Amino acid sequence: MGFQKNFLWGGATAANQCEGGIFEGGRGLANVDVCPAGADRNAVITGHRKMFEMDSEHVYPAAEAIDMYHHFREDIRLFGEMGFKVYRMSIAWTRIFPNGDESEPNEAGLAFYEEVFKECRKYRIQPLVTISHFDCPIYLIEKYGGWRSRKMIDFYLKLCRVLFTRYRDYVTHWLTFNEINMILHAPFMGAGFCFKEGENEEQVKYQAAHHELVASALATRLAHEINPDNKVGCMFAAGSAYPYTCRPEDVWEALLTDQENYFFVDIQSRGYYPAYAVKRLQKKGVFPVMETGDKEILRQNPVDFISFSYYNSRCIAAPGSGQEEAEGNLFKSAKNPYLKFSEWGWPIDPLGLRITLNEVYDRYQKPLFIVENGLGAIDTPDENGVINDDYRIDYLREHIRAMKAAVEEDGVELMGYTSWAPIDLISAGSGEMKKRYGFIYVDKQEDGSGTLARSRKKSFTWYQRVIATNGEEL
Ligand code: BG6
Repeated sequence: MGFQKNFLWGGATAANQCEGGIFEGGRGLANVDVCPAGADRNAVITGHRKMFEMDSEHVYPAAEAIDMYHHFREDIRLFGEMGFKVYRMSIAWTRIFPNGDESEPNEAGLAFYEEVFKECRKYRIQPLVTISHFDCPIYLIEKYGGWRSRKMIDFYLKLCRVLFTRYRDYVTHWLTFNEINMILHAPFMGAGFCFKEGENEEQVKYQAAHHELVASALATRLAHEINPDNKVGCMFAAGSAYPYTCRPEDVWEALLTDQENYFFVDIQSRGYYPAYAVKRLQKKGVFPVMETGDKEILRQNPVDFISFSYYNSRCIAAPGSGQEEAEGNLFKSAKNPYLKFSEWGWPIDPLGLRITLNEVYDRYQKPLFIVENGLGAIDTPDENGVINDDYRIDYLREHIRAMKAAVEEDGVELMGYTSWAPIDLISAGSGEMKKRYGFIYVDKQEDGSGTLARSRKKSFTWYQRVIATNGEEL
């Protein structure tokens, strides 16, 4: 009983939230670099305010982040010390192709990730690589409109070919796009495109989504061709939608919310546009333009496994119900009166993880991988400089218990668990540094000051024990 022997315990990060060094090693500028902290962030990440370069009025937290570009050896050593079996990380596209449409990759960027993988190998940590964690070269956005353009498929595949070939000996587990459903909520940060005045935004989003879905299927095929041992997963922001009441209108609205999220995985896993999407998108006149052969590409190249982030469930009331709202990953939903909330107002719902695992497994019958789960909180060092983050341990313990029940009692096939994030880093949603998730504290403060020194929080030793006992001691 319990987790399988080779269960992949670890942690997850994204290049733009931890690396920094954005002007080093010949790297080009990306969408994720120019998302400012502060009041304008939301308009920029949602594609309603164009920002394609840095200006002097804003602060851009990705520029330095936690400077993992220079600290990766130390950081991976600490992951090794915790006993990680897997490290989920992403590639900054612009380190490999600074503009995105060059014919040859940038050797300095390739060499950097090779060093990262070598370091992982030292500690027997297997990398799980997200090919694009929201990353898109600014040049491709300015010249082609980012994922609005079908040309992106070729640029993305060129990147994939280089990665699959160069890192054949280091990496066998890949994710094509982080939280692909983010395209519907924060399209500039999530998929590198902005809106034009007065256009049909839904049409643009679903067309861009189609390009990513075709690219994902072709990348899956390519990964299998280059190395038959490669396993490719999709990744979406999960969290089941609960009806606010048993009023059929609330139940219906919750179903619609789930379908909006599952839409992407339905295609990536089952290989075709689900009937509900075909009907609804056609009715609204926003069904994407497809090319001959797209349907076959999707049909023939489903993913090998399904990964997701889980931070919270959602509670959905029919429109016009006037329910109080709560924050959450991706979007707000009705405030669930039965739950507690994080300092950022996100619901805390461990049983929701078990519910989500069951729903996703029932729907797709493929191995699952939880690749993000964690608590963003303010950490204050005590008089000895130690962070006693019992609140984080409690959060993780309850979620791991729930996933254990899903495996042991419900029979869900689960490959692994990577917490978000093993080390403090920049928040994607808010750009804040003070929203910390790590087992490892980074001395970097909200105003940018700090030594960048790393130190172990109380949760560090706790997670080390969880891994050493394969989840038996929580
Ligand atoms: C997911 C993203 O949305 O949630 C991560 O994949 C992100 O990039 C994480 O950091 C937590 O969200 P936030 O807004 O607290 O950073």
